[in-house]
Amino acid sequence: VAESGARRIRWVADNMMLLGAIAGRFTDEQPFAGKTIGVSIHLEPKTAALLEVLDRGGAQVIATGNLGTTQDDVVVALNESGIRAIGRRDDDPRAHADNLDRVAAEELDLILDNGADLVARRPDVRIIGGTEETTSGANRLRDDLAGHVRFPVIVINDSPLKSIVENQHGVGQSVMESFQRITNLMLPGLRTCVFGYGWCGRGIAQYASRLGARVVVVEPDPIKALEAVMDGFEVREPQDAVDGAKLIVTATGARGVVGPGLVAAIASGAILANAGHFDTEIDVPALDAAAQRREELADGVERLEFAGGHWVRLLTGGRMVNLGGPSPKGNSIEAMDLGFSLQALSLERIATRAGELTVGPQAVPDDINRSLAAMLVAARMAG
Ligand SMILES: NC(=O)c1ccc[n+]([C@@H]2O[C@H](COP(=O)([O-])OP(=O)(O)OC[C@H]3O[C@@H](n4cnc5c(N)ncnc54)[C@H](O)[C@@H]3O)[C@@H](O)[C@H]2O)c1
Repeated sequence: VAESGARRIRWVADNMMLLGAIAGRFTDEQPFAGKTIGVSIHLEPKTAALLEVLDRGGAQVIATGNLGTTQDDVVVALNESGIRAIGRRDDDPRAHADNLDRVAAEELDLILDNGADLVARRPDVRIIGGTEETTSGANRLRDDLAGHVRFPVIVINDSPLKSIVENQHGVGQSVMESFQRITNLMLPGLRTCVFGYGWCGRGIAQYASRLGARVVVVEPDPIKALEAVMDGFEVREPQDAVDGAKLIVTATGARGVVGPGLVAAIASGAILANAGHFDTEIDVPALDAAAQRREELADGVERLEFAGGHWVRLLTGGRMVNLGGPSPKGNSIEAMDLGFSLQALSLERIATRAGELTVGPQAVPDDINRSLAAMLVAARMAG
């Protein structure tokens, strides 16, 4: 098991050019010498590569995963390499909460958090500071935990680099890769309707179009709709846009975007997929209630049949399509390399120059964004 985990971590780490360069410098400079970092993040090969870089920088790392996503072979491999990682894929919510409590109970100097789970456990403790991976965690820091957090927290997801590289290009690639892997269908000529022309939606529309699909966009925000038109896409109202579409993808962050009313206007056999974070963009419970039959056709593909024989196909039960189906891979290694390099450099900033930061949630310092952007340009140009 440890060998499988170690092999998978190696494959990822060898392709993470930015983290590789940072690891070299951290090994020399030891920015985290004598410091303990408490971590709560999905435990899989890409995050394991980040933990190894923090370890190379002199940190004592203690990490736990998120509910249901921990990869057991990665946890074993991390522990074998001397990095403390706790948690299992089949932990129930109670065991998961115990893991978080165990990490929070350590003598921590820094926190790397996901969803503010660790910070919520000890908001006023005297640590140097932390990072927060997600927008939902940042909202929690600004709302429920406002005024309670007594240290700086750099919010990684708000970096403009992440929007470009991860939301637009990472999601664009992985959603189209997942559609092809799950269905084995051809894209050229496929009439595709994308709901939302934000960061994720534009990436999906662009990757689909580059692979030959004919794309129509639905976007209520007039400025985003204008961008879609200027990028060469048709923009239509929902009922009009789904007419004749064979693939319908949601990426809006909104609820109930595709429900029974709209599905009635969709041609039989069309495929529905969601790329948004929550599984509520396609209203699956309402479709389920309206359907006369629901059956699994293949791993990640279901058929829903309505009155009169009308039917549609649903991918990954309406959950994020790029994280479901057989052998899901998520966003590209390079997209995650960028996100985790933002993590590594932000943690270094907190460990070494916390006095320059304000208390509470804040953006990634601009010089970090700029230096990483320059590094990624150089890495891509080097081929
Ligand atoms: N699948 C992944 O790996 C992944 C990665 C990052 C983000 N996400 C998720 O994807 C979703 C979108 O993220 P984003 O960064 O593109 O957000 P965004 O705010 O940049 O874009 C969302 C867009 O959807 C539009 N919209 C809202 N309601 C709509 C509706 N009913 N019909 C059509 N368009 C509508 C908005 O006007 C906006 O332009 C979020 O839920 C986010 O958490 C998923």
